[in-house]
Amino acid sequence: MNSVRLHVNVDHIATLRNARGTPYPDPIEGAAICLDAGADGITAHLREDRRHIKDADVELLKELLDSRAQTFNLEMGATDEMVAIAARVHPNVVTLVPERREERTTEGGLDVVGGGATLQRAIDRLRGAKIRVSLFIAPDPVQIEAARKAGVEQIELHTGDYAHAEGSDNELFRLRSAAKLASEMGIEVAAGHGLTRTNVPKLISVKEIVELNIGHAIIADAVFLSLRDAVLEMRAAIQSG
Ligand code: PXP
Repeated sequence: MNSVRLHVNVDHIATLRNARGTPYPDPIEGAAICLDAGADGITAHLREDRRHIKDADVELLKELLDSRAQTFNLEMGATDEMVAIAARVHPNVVTLVPERREERTTEGGLDVVGGGATLQRAIDRLRGAKIRVSLFIAPDPVQIEAARKAGVEQIELHTGDYAHAEGSDNELFRLRSAAKLASEMGIEVAAGHGLTRTNVPKLISVKEIVELNIGHAIIADAVFLSLRDAVLEMRAAIQSG
């Protein structure tokens, strides 16, 4: 049995709630269902425009995850506003992502090389607040070397190209090489974006990947299954890899 951790991203429960301005479906209730079904943690992205997860959700998710001693991974842009929120709420992990207001979802990896002093200041403030920092980056050796220099504990490899290429061997090779390189540098490797029950089993053959962050496909599966069954099915797909 492999022990890859599954963190469910509950942003899309909030997207549905916000579409009608109702209190339901509640992403906190959804998070609890995911944990009950065996998820190891919950991921949520507080965007600058608050289009899905709101500030109050972040506080409530922190309470829920603390009460269960499970991992809360807060995704955010490396801005002063977001870093201040993280320092106050104190999630277990902050994953720094690039953020452009007009994008539908996080389209590419963080440019750690170009992030320069501003990005390093955000990383140092988070680490100074005793928060584990992960950087969401493309499977690119240059970015991995920059992540090492930045002193982060974890990287999350962007699997969007792999997913778009329907799990192509070329993209898998890029991910495998990147994961190996990061792992040799002592950096823990997570992966996420566009992962589904179909493309996850092959990805799991990359032994250095110890955590997956999955949102859209699980919430989409929940429409036809149930949230609990969608998590169980994803877990089964991970086990089959
Ligand atoms: N990881 C990161 C850093 C993300 O930004 C996202 C999307 O919010 C995910 C994982 C989850 O991607 P998906 O919703 O495609 O599963």
